[in-house]
Amino acid sequence: MPMKVILFGATGMVGQGVLRECLRDDRVESVLAVGRTPLGVEHAKLRELVHPDLAALMNLPGTKAQLTGYDACFFCLGVSSAGMSEAAYRRITHDLTLAVARPLATWNPGSTFVYVSGQGTDSTEHGRVKWARIKGRTENDLLALDLDAYMFRPGYIQPLHGITSKTRLYRAAYVVTTPLYPLLRRLAPNHVTTTEQLGRAMIAVAVEGARVHVLEARDINSTASRL
Ligand SMILES: NC(=O)c1ccc[n+]([C@@H]2O[C@H](COP(=O)([O-])OP(=O)(O)OC[C@H]3O[C@@H](n4cnc5c(N)ncnc54)[C@H](OP(=O)(O)O)[C@@H]3O)[C@@H](O)[C@H]2O)c1
Repeated sequence: MPMKVILFGATGMVGQGVLRECLRDDRVESVLAVGRTPLGVEHAKLRELVHPDLAALMNLPGTKAQLTGYDACFFCLGVSSAGMSEAAYRRITHDLTLAVARPLATWNPGSTFVYVSGQGTDSTEHGRVKWARIKGRTENDLLALDLDAYMFRPGYIQPLHGITSKTRLYRAAYVVTTPLYPLLRRLAPNHVTTTEQLGRAMIAVAVEGARVHVLEARDINSTASRL
């Protein structure tokens, strides 16, 4: 049966890729993009919910009705830790993610929740790398909720189909690395994925689950090619 999807972070690089695959895939009946910035995209399957403060949105009286009855949430919202204090990075990465996921788990219990984490995430939460610890805590807290949660840990992501990152640092890095992509893919196939593979893999786990709940790049790529 076609599914109804909530998408966070649809204006970002990963989110744009996931939105594209959802809109093209018949197994996705509709997409509700939730974000602080309007998408500027129109499509028969797409609706938007825009609010400047997403944590506050989750507490508004009307939000429960708007976010109930969904099969899956693809959470692509996130920031680079570069230049951010630990507290500020934690507020977006952990606190905002859980502020969304906790009510969704009560409104859509057992539904699929895919979180875009990152290669090198520290499940122990005690390592020396700030971003990896905080992503680890986020993953662990999500996995404890009443959700069918999947942690996606991509390494290098190649944006396809004209998609660009919102993060200036990443945009600059892609100018340099794009010509190297075919080589990277040959030398390190288990560390490289694309925005298209991420979107296809999210749809695949929402449709038929996955063997594991923490997916590294190679798992994402094999899941993407499954359907
Ligand atoms: N890019 C990579 O190579 C890579 C690799 C591994 C993992 N990841 C992870 O993938 C996730 C997405 O990365 P990306 O490359 O797609 O990032 P991006 O292009 O910078 O997009 C970030 C997205 O998050 C939203 N966002 C950020 N802070 C927000 C806030 N406070 N409130 C509401 N929305 C907020 C942005 O919305 P606005 O449009 O409103 O700013 C945008 O939709 C991140 O968690 C990142 O760590 C990325």
